[in-house]
Amino acid sequence: MYTSKITGLGYYVPENVVTNDDLSKLMDTNDAWIQERTGIKERRHIKKGDGNSTSVMAVKASTIALERANLKPKDIDMIVFATLSPDMYFPGGGVEVQEAMGMRTIPALDVRNQCSGFVYALSVADQFVKTGMYKNILVIGSENHSGGLDFTTRSRNVTVIFGDGAGAAVVSRNETGKGGILSTHLHSEGKHKNELSLKGPSTEYWVPQIIAENLRKGQTDQQENIPYYPVMNGQFVFKHAIVRFSEVIKEGLEANNLEVKDIDMLIPHQANLRISQFVQHKLKLTDDQVFNNIQKYGNTTAASIPIALTEAWEEGKIKEGDLVVLAAFGSGFTWGSAIIRW
Ligand code: ACO
Repeated sequence: MYTSKITGLGYYVPENVVTNDDLSKLMDTNDAWIQERTGIKERRHIKKGDGNSTSVMAVKASTIALERANLKPKDIDMIVFATLSPDMYFPGGGVEVQEAMGMRTIPALDVRNQCSGFVYALSVADQFVKTGMYKNILVIGSENHSGGLDFTTRSRNVTVIFGDGAGAAVVSRNETGKGGILSTHLHSEGKHKNELSLKGPSTEYWVPQIIAENLRKGQTDQQENIPYYPVMNGQFVFKHAIVRFSEVIKEGLEANNLEVKDIDMLIPHQANLRISQFVQHKLKLTDDQVFNNIQKYGNTTAASIPIALTEAWEEGKIKEGDLVVLAAFGSGFTWGSAIIRW
């Protein structure tokens, strides 16, 4: 049995900065409301013609991660790609990265776990490395939210939260045998699937005439009747998120005989700054023990953890030997954590 280790990290966000004031020109919202409820000051959105897409951003982030791992695309044995916003309905983004980076005919696995996507993807990679089946796995989280959001007042509670970007990690066999990914912990509770969801396009909502009819209805009806934009029961999500984040962090620590005080850096999925702060206070963690960057990028769903992890590492906030905890919660509901000795 082997252990796995993160050997390279990278991220990419589009250059186009969209401030809260920019959004207030499109819908009835304002900077004070957004900052007070979410902590977000600005986010990045793909700009028409800038050449970016979910897979293009994934390739940019992955190229940096591979360089830092001192690996070439041909050295990668598998891709695990987490996104809720793939370029195409099918196939998923994994094969696009395989092609764009000129990789061998390696497996490309697509993970559909929304905000928990990166933790799920990391867990999958960890299992494949542990068994000895693969040596180097590229794990990606990338999202193009701006391409699928409703920029009208009707969806303001959702649209102001999300941003675009990509993050990537190379997960390799840990040749030293010391540290690395200690454990991962994954959960789901499908009874809450409608509380944060996007219903179409899907097999239920894909026939062209149904699309046309639903879009017509959407102009007059309530939000629930529009299946083509994400809907969220914000307060319900908030209440569940703070419980599950804390639970799954503690579960991971206990599995390794560790305690909250042992955490050097918690990288929570950047759902909402208020959720991160609530969890921080509940677990009695200091500001130095938690990393947040949602203020700059908004919620980038599957990309938020690898972007934050990369930034924290680049800023020297994660050092060899540190105990790093990743934790996520999101649509499904799904949630999970990863306990890593850096
Ligand atoms: N700008 C201005 N006003 C707004 C906006 C906006 N963008 N959005 C909603 N409002 C209004 C509402 O219409 C409502 O007005 P009313 O009182 O006249 O009816 C008022 O603000 C309060 O609305 P609530 O939905 O009750 O606002 P709440 O305080 O719950 O904040 C929020 C909404 C920020 C979404 C909050 O519920 C929340 O943070 N939930 C957690 C969800 C989350 O973080 N999701 C992230 C994605 S999921 C994930 O990553 C885990």
